[in-house]
Amino acid sequence: MLFSPFTIKDLSLKNRIVMSPMSMYACKDETGIVQDWHRIHYPARAIGGVGLVMVECSAVTLQGRMSPQDLGIWGDEHIDGLKSLVALVKTAGSAVGIQISHAGRKAKIDGPIVAPSAISFKEGEKTPEELSITQIENIVQEFKEAAARVRKAEFDVLEIHAAHGYLINEFLSPVTNQRQDEYGGTVEKRFRLLKEIIESVKTEWNGPLFVRVSADEFDTEGNSLDHYIYYSRLMKEMGVDLIDVSAGGLINFRPKTYPGYQVPLADAIRNAADVPTGAVGLIKQAGHAEEILRNKRADLIFLGRELLWNPHWAYAAAQELGVVLELPQSYSWSWIKKL
Ligand SMILES: Cc1cc2nc3c(=O)[nH]c(=O)nc-3n(C[C@H](O)[C@H](O)[C@H](O)COP(=O)(O)O)c2cc1C
Repeated sequence: MLFSPFTIKDLSLKNRIVMSPMSMYACKDETGIVQDWHRIHYPARAIGGVGLVMVECSAVTLQGRMSPQDLGIWGDEHIDGLKSLVALVKTAGSAVGIQISHAGRKAKIDGPIVAPSAISFKEGEKTPEELSITQIENIVQEFKEAAARVRKAEFDVLEIHAAHGYLINEFLSPVTNQRQDEYGGTVEKRFRLLKEIIESVKTEWNGPLFVRVSADEFDTEGNSLDHYIYYSRLMKEMGVDLIDVSAGGLINFRPKTYPGYQVPLADAIRNAADVPTGAVGLIKQAGHAEEILRNKRADLIFLGRELLWNPHWAYAAAQELGVVLELPQSYSWSWIKKL
C-alpha cells in the first residue's frame, strides 16, 4: 500500500509518503524569499523517493509570520523563488505542495500580534490585539492572494494550516475564541473564518486542497474530536480533498508522544467523516506505515523528523516491504543496489 499511487483530482502521487511541512527558519533579512537552503533541502527528499514534498508553512502576511525567518507568500516578490523550488522538486521526481498560514497569537515578531480574542499563549508572552471585522476580512483576502501565488508558482497541492494553535485554530477553539460576534460563540460561528478562507482560496485554486487540523486540543474546555469530525464533514462538503490530522499546539502543554500517537485521530476522522486523511506523528517504521494504510486508518503517511534524519527513508522502506522501486537514473546502478 505504501508504494501504491494515490490520486486526488488530476494529481497522481507515485506513493503514499508525504514529507510533512517543517519550518526551516532559513530566510534572510525578513524577506521570506526562498534561499539556497530550501533549494537543497526539499529536492533532496524528492530524490529520496517521497511521493509528495510539502513545503513549510509560509506566511500570508508579515504579521502572520511565526518568526522573522519564515518563508513568505505575502507578496508577488515570492513567486519566482517558489517557482524555482517547485521546478527543482518536480525534476527530482516528486509532486510538491505548500502550506499557507497565519500565526495569530503565536507570531514571534516585532510589533503587535493579532488573534480572535486578547488572550496570550502563555504568561510572559505578548497579548494579541483582538481582530476587528475589517481586519478579519483583510486576512481572508490575504489567503486568497496567497492561493493565487501558489497557483502561479505551479505547486501541485495547497494546504491551509488550521492546526497547532495558529490563527485559524485560535478561531475554531472556544479556549482562544471568546468573541460574541459572527466569528464566535457557537461551533458554526467559530468555523466561519476557516469557511471563508476555504471559499476564498477556492476562487484562485482548483487543485488538490488539504487542511491541517489539531484534532486534539488537550484542553477539556476546547473542541473535542467530535467537533473536528463535524468540521471535517463541512470541509469535505466544501471540496477539501484531504484532512491532514495533527494535534496540540493550542495551549502550552506538551502531550506524551509515542509511535503513531496521532493515528487514532486520523482514523476517526477518515471513517466518521468519510474523507481522506493524512496520519502524522512519530511514524518511523515501514511496517507501521503499511499497517495504517492497510487498515484504512489514513490515506497518506506524513513523515516529519524521520525525513530530516534520513532523506532516503523511502528506499529503505521499499526494501523492507519487498517493493522494487524505480530509482533515479543516476542512482540505478550505484550504491543503492548494495543496501
Ligand atoms: C523542525 C520542525 C518544523 C515544523 N514546522 C511545521 C510547519 O511548518 N507546519 C506544520 O504544520 N507542522 C510543522 N511541524 C510539525 C511536523 O510537520 C510534524 O507534524 C511533527 O513533527 C510530527 O511528525 P514527526 O513525528 O514525523 O516529526 C514541524 C516539525 C518540526 C520538527
